[in-house]
Amino acid sequence: MSESIRIVISGAAGRMGKALSSVIAERDDVSLVATLIRPGSELENRPTPTAGAPNYATRLPESVIADVLIDFSASSGFDAALELALTRNIAFVSGSTGLDPSQIEALDQAARRIPLMWAANFSVGVAVLEHLVGEAARLLPDWDCEIIESHHRHKLDAPSGTALTLGRRAGEARGVDAPDPDLDRNGRRDVGTIGYSVSRGGDIVGEHEVRLAGFGERVELIHRATDRAIFAKGALTAACWLSRQVPGRYSMADMLGL
Ligand SMILES: NC(=O)c1ccc[n+]([C@@H]2O[C@H](COP(=O)([O-])OP(=O)(O)OC[C@H]3O[C@@H](n4cnc5c(N)ncnc54)[C@H](OP(=O)(O)O)[C@@H]3O)[C@@H](O)[C@H]2O)c1
Repeated sequence: MSESIRIVISGAAGRMGKALSSVIAERDDVSLVATLIRPGSELENRPTPTAGAPNYATRLPESVIADVLIDFSASSGFDAALELALTRNIAFVSGSTGLDPSQIEALDQAARRIPLMWAANFSVGVAVLEHLVGEAARLLPDWDCEIIESHHRHKLDAPSGTALTLGRRAGEARGVDAPDPDLDRNGRRDVGTIGYSVSRGGDIVGEHEVRLAGFGERVELIHRATDRAIFAKGALTAACWLSRQVPGRYSMADMLGL
């Protein structure tokens, strides 16, 4: 039997970190070797809610050997997580959103040394949606494209990383630059532009609609997430796949062969 893949989670005490711990506990081909939390957190050394998982820690002991670090710590914890993966030569999966351009650049630099995948959304359905949006935007170049997203009230960034990725894909398919999100639009809309609309509330896990509006007709492509376990499962599948890759920056599309 092959050895299990050793996983470290950064952001382990957050909503996604906990979902990931639960998903790991259900499988016997992966093992959770460390659950990292924010330095200074009062949870240090406390047990995690997942049976069998290591206690919360603020640093990865030298004695712990890991294959993949999965980061769901938000943009504030991303830099430390990437640095740790580089220092310890561990493959890196990150779902943290709200990254700034220097953090994206850091991913490209790090990809020369370790295999890594950053995705704004680890749902397989969203990866397929992104693919379909590219096709639709290319085939309907003059139709107005609106990306409408809804999330729970705790979400920090807006528009969501997924919405921005969908907008970039639509722009690429039309050979235009990724549009800057402008959530305070007034006045008439230019033909064929790409725009964003955002709503926040309650416990909405995540909804993305891409509406291509023509005259007398429209095409609507919608993905609704109802359980955050889908992101955890997708990130874990990515981690297992990444543990077998050479250094480089990979996407969900690479993994799924889209
Ligand atoms: N790609 C995807 O599929 C996907 C899906 C869902 C969410 N997300 C993104 O994933 C991120 C996390 O989402 P969430 O809903 O789980 O947020 P959350 O509940 O706020 O969890 C984030 C956790 O990271 C911790 N943290 C902050 N700085 C850290 C550091 N330096 N080291 C270790 N941990 C640190 C936070 O601790 P404190 O609370 O103590 O600060 C918190 O426990 C967000 O950026 C979200 O947009 C991505």
